[in-house]
Amino acid sequence: MDEHDGYFGERVASRYDESAAEMFDPAVVDPVVDFLAQIAGSGRALELGIGTGRIALPLAQRGVPVHGIDLSKAMVARLHAKPGGKDIEVTIGDFATTTVDGTFSVAYLVFNTIMNLTTQEAQVACFRNVAAHLEPGGCFVIEVGVPDLQRLPPGETILAFHVSETRWGLDEYDVASQGLTSHHFEIVDGKAHRNSIPFRYAWPSELDLMAQLAGLSLRERWSGWKREPFASDSRSHVSVWESPRI
Ligand SMILES: C[S@@+](CC[C@H](N)C(=O)[O-])C[C@H]1O[C@@H](n2cnc3c(N)ncnc32)[C@H](O)[C@@H]1O
Repeated sequence: MDEHDGYFGERVASRYDESAAEMFDPAVVDPVVDFLAQIAGSGRALELGIGTGRIALPLAQRGVPVHGIDLSKAMVARLHAKPGGKDIEVTIGDFATTTVDGTFSVAYLVFNTIMNLTTQEAQVACFRNVAAHLEPGGCFVIEVGVPDLQRLPPGETILAFHVSETRWGLDEYDVASQGLTSHHFEIVDGKAHRNSIPFRYAWPSELDLMAQLAGLSLRERWSGWKREPFASDSRSHVSVWESPRI
C-alpha cells in the first residue's frame, strides 16, 4: 500500500483506465449517468472515491456540478489531466470523515467502493458523513456487489473473479470478519505484478441499518442502473437512501 495514496498509488493509477476498460464502455457508463443525473435534478453531486473520473466527467458534462473526494492524488491527477477534468473540484482525504463545503442533492459511491472501508465503524462513519452533506430530501446512492457467499463451497475461501490470458483475479474470504481480499495478478511487458486489496463486504440489510443510524431511509433498490428488479439471485445492487424532507 502506498503511504499516501492508499491502494490506488501511482502504479495502479497509471493503468487504472486500461485495466478497468470494460467499466468505461458507454454501455456501462451511460445508464449510471442517466440514473444519477435524474436524482441530482438541478442540485450538486458529491462522488466519494472519484478516482480518474469515470462517472464524474460524463455527469459533469450533463450539466451536474460534481465535487469529489479521494485519498489518491495519483488517481485524481489522471482525472485532472483529462479534458474538462480541471473543472471538477476534488478534496483529498478519507471519504468516511472528510468534509467539503455546501450541500448536495445526491452523493454516490459506485463500483463496490464502500467495501474499501474495511471496518463496520468506518462504513457507518461514511453514511453519517454523507448524511451531513445532503440537502433535505437528498439521496445517497451505492452500487456494490451482493456478498458472493452462495458461490463459495463449504470449507473453501477462494473464488476466481477474472481469468484471462494476462490477468487473474482471486477473492479470498474471511467469513468471520466479513473480510474479502481481492488479489489481482497481471502480466505487463512480460513481468508479473500483484496487487492485493482488502475489503469488507456487507449485506444490503446491514447497509440499510447503517443508513438508519445516519438518519436516512431506503427509497429504492435495484439490481442494476436500468432499474432491473432486485431479487434473491441478484449479484449486485444499486441502492438509494433518502434524507428526511423536513
Ligand atoms: C475502484 S476505484 C473507483 C473510482 C471511480 N469511482 C470509478 O468508478 O471508476 C476506488 C477509488 O476510491 C478511492 N478510495 C478508496 N478508499 C477510499 C477512502 N477511504 N477515502 C477516499 N477515497 C478512497 C481510491 O483511491 C480510488 O480512486
